[in-house]
Amino acid sequence: MKRILVTGGLGFIGSHTVVELQNEGFEVVIIDNLSNTTLNVLDSITEITGKKPDFYNIDLRVKTDVQSFFETNTIDGIIHFAAFKAVGESMHKPLDYYENNLGTLVYLLQEMRDRKLDNFIFSSSCTVYGQADELPVTENAPVKKAASVYGNTKQIGEEIIQDACNAHNLNSIALRYFNPIGAHESIKIGELPLGVPQNLIPFVTQTAAGLRDQLSVFGDDYDTKDGTAIRDYIHVVDLAKAHIAALKRLLEKRNKENFEFFNVGTGVGSSVLEVIKAFEKATQKKLNYKIVGRREGDITAAYADTAIANRELNWKTEKKLEEALASAWKWQQKQ
Ligand code: UD1
Repeated sequence: MKRILVTGGLGFIGSHTVVELQNEGFEVVIIDNLSNTTLNVLDSITEITGKKPDFYNIDLRVKTDVQSFFETNTIDGIIHFAAFKAVGESMHKPLDYYENNLGTLVYLLQEMRDRKLDNFIFSSSCTVYGQADELPVTENAPVKKAASVYGNTKQIGEEIIQDACNAHNLNSIALRYFNPIGAHESIKIGELPLGVPQNLIPFVTQTAAGLRDQLSVFGDDYDTKDGTAIRDYIHVVDLAKAHIAALKRLLEKRNKENFEFFNVGTGVGSSVLEVIKAFEKATQKKLNYKIVGRREGDITAAYADTAIANRELNWKTEKKLEEALASAWKWQQKQ
């Protein structure tokens, strides 16, 4: 049985990926510092799969703790989620973001180099493309100068990994996520935003639940079908499964380059108004929303060309937007 380290394994995408790993027969060890989640998620994962993953409350910024972990743990692969992810906050706390998102990445790669470990999956983001010139966006689209510190940590992270792979005989895959939403069908795990949600779907579900008065739709003057911005919303379970596919590609040595990157999206672009309509249809709830001005830093449209990921990872999404929104709503109601 292969033993996989999942950093940030109690977070939103991490917890769903741990469940899929366990379902596929992998043994999982989680490192998480609980900075944006709680230990209850460990129990919820255990309830879903019937297997309790090993868990270490380690802050990856503490290099000596990272070293001691690897001294006592045998690992066949790493899926690295642990990172800060708030775009706005990253502009006010750039050094915290660079330290947490890049310093810890370097420590992990150093351990891999020193202990001759291999198979590293990195959480990247479609934000590396900025506003792509052509849609849907393919992996061949150029990486554009990042609009946020958060985005820059993903770009630099990919470069660090590429350099480490070249120099130290490592193999890695970066997955460039589009917009992950939804919750596990058991409704035992889901997204737990702290404070006022910045992302669309948590704001939608909290508004429907009466926790927020009104949803602001940021801009209706974009050059799109209805004027609102377009994104590619992917069910988090489909996204989790892409990690298993990427991990197997590395474990079975089917990768074509030592560092590869793939788009992980559905290929379908939905406008903000379409998301609202789909939510209302899936949940029979009316949403109170208002069109306001654009949000600084937002792009007009991003959705994935998934052909390369579908072919190379032998993976494709299975769930539709309505199902993802319905699960997000059930999860909200449970909170
Ligand atoms: C953002 C980040 C992205 C990050 C992702 C997940 C930017 C430019 N991108 O994506 O790097 O990986 O979050 O954390 O910040 N919207 C509203 N009202 C709201 C909230 C959002 O209309 O209250 C709109 C936004 O303008 C956007 C769409 O909904 O058009 C999706 O927004 P959001 O969920 O925040 O994701 P992104 O901005 O696409």
